[in-house]
Order: sequence, then C-alpha cells, then structure tokens
Amino acid sequence: MIKAIRGTRDLLPPDTALWNFAEAAVRDVFRAYNFQEIRTPIFESTELFARGVGEETDIVSKEMFTWEDRGRAASDRAQSLTLRPEATAGIVRAYIEHNLGDRGLNKLFCIGPMFRRERPQKGRYRQFYQIDAEVIGPPSSGSDSPARDAEVLEMLATLLDRLGISDWNLELNSVGTPADRVQFNEALRKALEPVVGGMCADCQRRAVTNPLRVFDCKVPEDQPVIETLPRITQFLGEDSRKHFDAVQEILTKVGVRFSLNSRLVRGLDYYTRTAFEFTHGALGAQNAILGGGRYDGLSEALGGPAAPGIGFAIGEDRLILSLQEKTTAESVLRKPDVYIAPMSSMNAEAARLARELRRHDLVVELGDDNFRLKKSFEAATKTGAKYILIVGENEVKADAFALKNLATGEQVQVPRNELAARIQLEAKS
Ligand code: HAM
Repeated sequence: MIKAIRGTRDLLPPDTALWNFAEAAVRDVFRAYNFQEIRTPIFESTELFARGVGEETDIVSKEMFTWEDRGRAASDRAQSLTLRPEATAGIVRAYIEHNLGDRGLNKLFCIGPMFRRERPQKGRYRQFYQIDAEVIGPPSSGSDSPARDAEVLEMLATLLDRLGISDWNLELNSVGTPADRVQFNEALRKALEPVVGGMCADCQRRAVTNPLRVFDCKVPEDQPVIETLPRITQFLGEDSRKHFDAVQEILTKVGVRFSLNSRLVRGLDYYTRTAFEFTHGALGAQNAILGGGRYDGLSEALGGPAAPGIGFAIGEDRLILSLQEKTTAESVLRKPDVYIAPMSSMNAEAARLARELRRHDLVVELGDDNFRLKKSFEAATKTGAKYILIVGENEVKADAFALKNLATGEQVQVPRNELAARIQLEAKS
C-alpha cells in the first residue's frame, strides 16, 4: 500500500471543519486590521532563502527540500529551487518585484503549506501550515514605528482570545540592529572561546560563523553553558532600547500581557529589534504556537528599497492542537439541514426540490430512489441531518411534502413554497 510520506499527513473531515473555522476567524480578525491576502508560489529560487533566512540557520543549512531544475531543453541552465520553508522571504520578494510599497499595499497575509526536513513528532511535520502576516513599507509609511510592533502583537492576542485559546504566553525580546550586534557578537565569541570545545559540533561551527545562532542549540548538555553567555539586551544601542521600551509601553497600556526573554533570538537571521513567540502549555515540547519579529534590513538584503517590516507566522497545525482543547470539529461542522428521500421514480422531482432548497442556502443531502424508506431513514440519520423530506407520488401531486424532524419524530405536511422557510427556522434555532 502506498502511504503518505513520513512528516506529511492527510487532513480529513471532520477535522478540516476545525481548520476552516480557525481560518475564518483569522480572516475576520485580519480584515479588522486592514490586512489583505497575498498568495506566493510554493517554490522559489534557493538563493532567496539563503539570502533572506541566512546560510547559517538550521532551516537553510539542514532542512530545505532543494533540487536542481534542469528545464526542458538540453541547453537550459540548471537552477536550484526550494520548497518554501517559510513565507516572509517570498512575500518580501513579491513586495519588491511588484513595487507594492508604491501601491500602499503594506499589510499582507498568506495561508499555506511550508516545508522543512525536520524530525517529525507531535506538532512538528515536514509539510506544515502557516498563517503568516507582514506589515512592510517605506520608512516614510511609519513601518519602523514601535506602534506597528505593538499593533501586530495586540492583534495576535485578540485572535487567540477570540478562538478561545486563552492560556498563551507572549515572550518578548529585542535582538537589536546589526550595529548593536557587532559588539554583542564580539562578546559572545570571547565568552565561547574557552568553553566551545565541550559543546556540540553545530555550536563549534556557529561560534566562528554566526555566534548568535548558538542560542538556537537544543542539545541538553550545552544548555548550562548557554545560560552563562552574555545577552543581547546588554548591548542594545540607545535607539533600539527606546524602540523596545515604546513597544512594551503600548502593550501595557492596551492590556496585552507579556514576559521578557533575553534568550529569545529566533532561528532566522533577518530579525532586527523586536522578536517574539507565543507559547501554549498544552502543546508539549513543540510549544511555540507562533513566532515573529521585525526585519528592517531584509528588503535591502534581497536587492530592494529600504522597507522596514514586522510580521509573524502562526503554526496552523499547532493552533489547531491548542484549539482542540476546547472546541471539537463536530461542534463547528455544519451538518445537513435536510435529507431528501425520493420514493420510486421520484429522482427528478427530488433533484428539483434539492436545487430549490440549496438556493436558499440550506445544506441538502440528496438520496436515491433505489432506497426503501427504512434505508433512507438510516442514511439520513447517518449524515446527521435535522430533517428527512419524503418525495413520493402523492406528495408531488399535492405539491406538499412530508417533513420529519429526525430528533423529535414530529412529522408535518409542508407546501413546497413554505419548505425552505420552515427548515431555515429550525436551522437557525
Ligand atoms: P518560525 O518560528 O520558523 O518563523 O515558524 C513560525 C511557526 O511555524 C512556529 O512557531 C511553529 O508554530 C510553526 N512551525 C515551524 N516549523 C514547523 C514544523 N516543522 N511543523 C509544524 N509547525 C512548525 C517563521 O517561519 C517566520 N517566517 C515568521 C515571521 C514572519 N517572522 C516575520 N514574519
């Protein structure tokens, strides 16, 4: 038997109803903050992620699904392509390519699959889904303002609360600007020098190439050493400090709770200043429900104009896991309002009725006239329909149909032109 590849999975009904429920809430909340949807390709040139996310990150150095695309003609030059491991680099590429800054399109969101070759476990997959949002624009648009950071964080708190995920934790840090990090990297290298020999191979490499990435290390034996390392917070310049203070001041004012975590540097190189994660206890080891931050130099790194930005990606798989604590798929699933049961030779009449009722926005399951009445009742009950509507010769002649409430057993004869209203009344109650 051919099975789904390890780390990928089928999202099946009724769970998909929960995914749609979450996405509908997300779209509603994003609309209130004036975000608009963008859909970027699922694969891009490898160079985009190498330059955007950073060669030294785990994502780029170990986890990407990359291949050489030869084109069709023998003379075509091979190009290295990669399944997107995240959405920000692609969105910023699109922002540059289509001059979105000039068009005032600076609040964008995207929902879709991402791909990372990670070791699969609960909440961690090789194909997973992100709900990503970015605020990006020319400096004149105020996209570098701490007000934007706070607005994005407040929006996330609103969204999680609205979904009934209330016991989240917002962890906040500032990773400073590249200028702030010159001194910090220096201090880190110095602190690592005498101890790095006892650390994992990755840390030994990172200590030379990109010491900040040592904080991404998950090896338990390395953690006591990492705990003793200097923190970026001590190296923030005046401007970064003020920016970070302003973000915290607004959050406090609007009532969004947070805790400071000076170890939080996030696993992507593009971050500047504000960096954050929302965690949720019920998730277990993979407890980051979402992560994000500011990336003021990313557009320039990709060859674009100055365009400071801030954004986040919610791990949708993990969002659903958290949601399932309180909300079941069954509770958000819309079951059929009515099951139409045609008696012998009544398929055409039944189809006509189904068409009429569906035009009134009712969910209709259409039976088959091969079924005897008993089998129709069984089928109707199995679908979870509220009503069964019997379409027999007498009913068609009278233009009035037997409508039976499957829960109460109550049966009434309803004229054709009153059917939709009658069923709707029940559907809404
Ligand atoms: P990230 O922290 O790499 O950030 O991913 C964001 C979220 O995606 C994580 O917090 C997690 O919930 C989810 N996630 C990541 N990897 C997996 C996986 N293998 N399986 C399931 N869920 C996963 C970014 O991707 C940035 N692009 C976020 C961002 C947007 N920063 C600024 N703008």
